[in-house]
Amino acid sequence: MSDQSRQPVEPPLAPGVYAALLEQLPEGVVVVDAGRRLVLANHRAERLTGIHLTDRVGQDICEALPLLNADGRSYWETDNPWGGLRTRSGSPEQRLVLADGRSVLAATRHIRAGSDRTLQWLVMTMRSTTVRDRIESETSALVTTIAHELRAPLGAVRGFSRTLRNRWDQLRDDQKLWMLDAIDTDAARLQRQVGELLDISRLDTGRLMLRSREVDLLSLVRTGIERVVSTGVDADRFRVVSQFDEVRLTADADRLTQVLSNLLENAVRHGRGTVTVTVQLSRREVQLDVSDEGPGIAPEHRSLVFTRFWQARGRGGNGLGLYVVHGLVAAHGGRVEVLDLPGGATFRMTLPRHTPEPEEAAS
Ligand SMILES: Nc1ncnc2c1ncn2[C@@H]1O[C@H](COP(=O)(O)OP(=O)(O)O)[C@@H](O)[C@H]1O
Ligand SMILES: [Mg+2]
Repeated sequence: MSDQSRQPVEPPLAPGVYAALLEQLPEGVVVVDAGRRLVLANHRAERLTGIHLTDRVGQDICEALPLLNADGRSYWETDNPWGGLRTRSGSPEQRLVLADGRSVLAATRHIRAGSDRTLQWLVMTMRSTTVRDRIESETSALVTTIAHELRAPLGAVRGFSRTLRNRWDQLRDDQKLWMLDAIDTDAARLQRQVGELLDISRLDTGRLMLRSREVDLLSLVRTGIERVVSTGVDADRFRVVSQFDEVRLTADADRLTQVLSNLLENAVRHGRGTVTVTVQLSRREVQLDVSDEGPGIAPEHRSLVFTRFWQARGRGGNGLGLYVVHGLVAAHGGRVEVLDLPGGATFRMTLPRHTPEPEEAAS
């Protein structure tokens, strides 16, 4: 920064302008003077604390804004910015509680002056805890989901391998083979689930990498159907409608197969009847619809289905499939939506025929 930019602004803003600017801040702001008196608070601070702070200007801050630490002691008494080290420049953000149980995330800055660095002003900024609370509760929901989902297949893998080991001589070959197959199936399920969890973390942090090449969408549809059929679903339930023999586009084949098998599996599990995949082409885009003849998705739920954990009614599953679908399609520069059509659910995925450059796609 040049010296010039540090010059005071001339003419200074009128006091009323500062107050008006303060009201525009997204955070709550509270200012306390050297005598521990509340001198200023914006509207946002009043909303966050539920206290009419402007009525308490001039009061001792301990009474005007009684904040408590996590251990229930007075924040102002414990933090004691007026005593203590004169080199302190503030305190980091922490969760503070009010008498009525509300909480805020608050941080302070100390404004000191003179060679003895006495505290002249204390500025506290505060924001709502709801975002952090939501992240914390989502994280704990995710951990519960993971633990829940991994437990069943892990239990089966351990049980079968122990039986094989302890009763090897009593078991017939066909029984041994059957158990080994069961172990293999459950291990594959675990692998898929762990892969899906890694995808979620990659999508959340924008680290998902696509390995795009030219692929035929119709053969990916067939692979997706085979994958669902291999879990025991009747192959006759699927119908593919397209006037083309081949639909070429640039995409990550594994990721698109994952998207397709998720949509197909949902159509089978949450829907009913025949599952129809329709592929259409326009000049720039490919459109793929997956529709079923089940109960469909209520209009008021259509914006929710792609969010984490959302389920109309918990019928197994974890509510993460469509969240991953949405993220993977977006990474391809496409979009996915629920169409407003009568009878059953129709999910439409629209992809560009030319996939954007990697840096565009990764964002
Ligand atoms: N084809 C469908 N028909 C009706 N409801 C569906 C369909 N696909 C998805 N849903 C609803 O959307 C929810 C979220 O789907 P998803 O994210 O794949 O999670 P999961 O399949 O694990 O429940 C499902 O629980 C279901 O309520
Ligand atoms: Mg699903």
